[in-house]
Amino acid sequence: MAKVKLLAVADVHSPRYLEEFVKDLGQHERPDAFLFAGDMINRGNAEEYKNVLDTIEKILGTSFPVIGCFGNEEYSEVRKDIVSIVGDRMILLDEKSYVLESNGLTVGIVGTQGSLDKATSWQRRNIPSVKGVFERRAKRAASLLKKMKDKVDHRILLMHYSPCLETCEGEETKAFSWMGSRKFYSVVVEHQPDLVIHGHVHNSTRHEVTIGASFIRNVSFPAVGSITELNVWDTKKTRRIEYESC
Ligand SMILES: [Fe+2]
Ligand SMILES: [Fe+2]
Repeated sequence: MAKVKLLAVADVHSPRYLEEFVKDLGQHERPDAFLFAGDMINRGNAEEYKNVLDTIEKILGTSFPVIGCFGNEEYSEVRKDIVSIVGDRMILLDEKSYVLESNGLTVGIVGTQGSLDKATSWQRRNIPSVKGVFERRAKRAASLLKKMKDKVDHRILLMHYSPCLETCEGEETKAFSWMGSRKFYSVVVEHQPDLVIHGHVHNSTRHEVTIGASFIRNVSFPAVGSITELNVWDTKKTRRIEYESC
């Protein structure tokens, strides 16, 4: 049976949790792809991407793609720098999609930062028409997911903010509006990606939930305490794709 093994993580905030991240890397074997759900660096320190990628390459090698989206700590003004720092060592999906072909399966990945119900005060000050930006991101993700429907075996939405309240449990209720967005919840309900991987929720106590046919997983390193391993199985007889979260 075909299987694609994914390792996924968010919120390493390098150098903040880099040491713990490196320790945990040693517990894992080479994946078919490594996914970053944003906030891999702290406060826009673009150079830290080198350290993150160096440690992965040193411990697990280079024979698999590293695919990521941006988080809020990858400040918009340093994103160009990040793109040039990572070069061809990493595929950055900023409102883009990518098809991973591995072990006979095609896995379509849509990457986006996602949206918030309420912009932070920093975002309101620094991002012109931030509400429109959040709306546009949801529409773009919906369109990319729709385009891939029936063209790949499996669709993943890789995002930084949460698409639902369930995986925010553990955070203060008043902070929920800064964790995710109802707009993306609607995108998930309407387009039913098989798997949604997100980060940003550092204090969640419930890391996974199923919404319709979609399996949602928070991979935030400080919340989970480790890198998350997700196995995507293709049971060809039933054409169902199942997940095994390790
Ligand atoms: Fe974070
Ligand atoms: Fe974040």
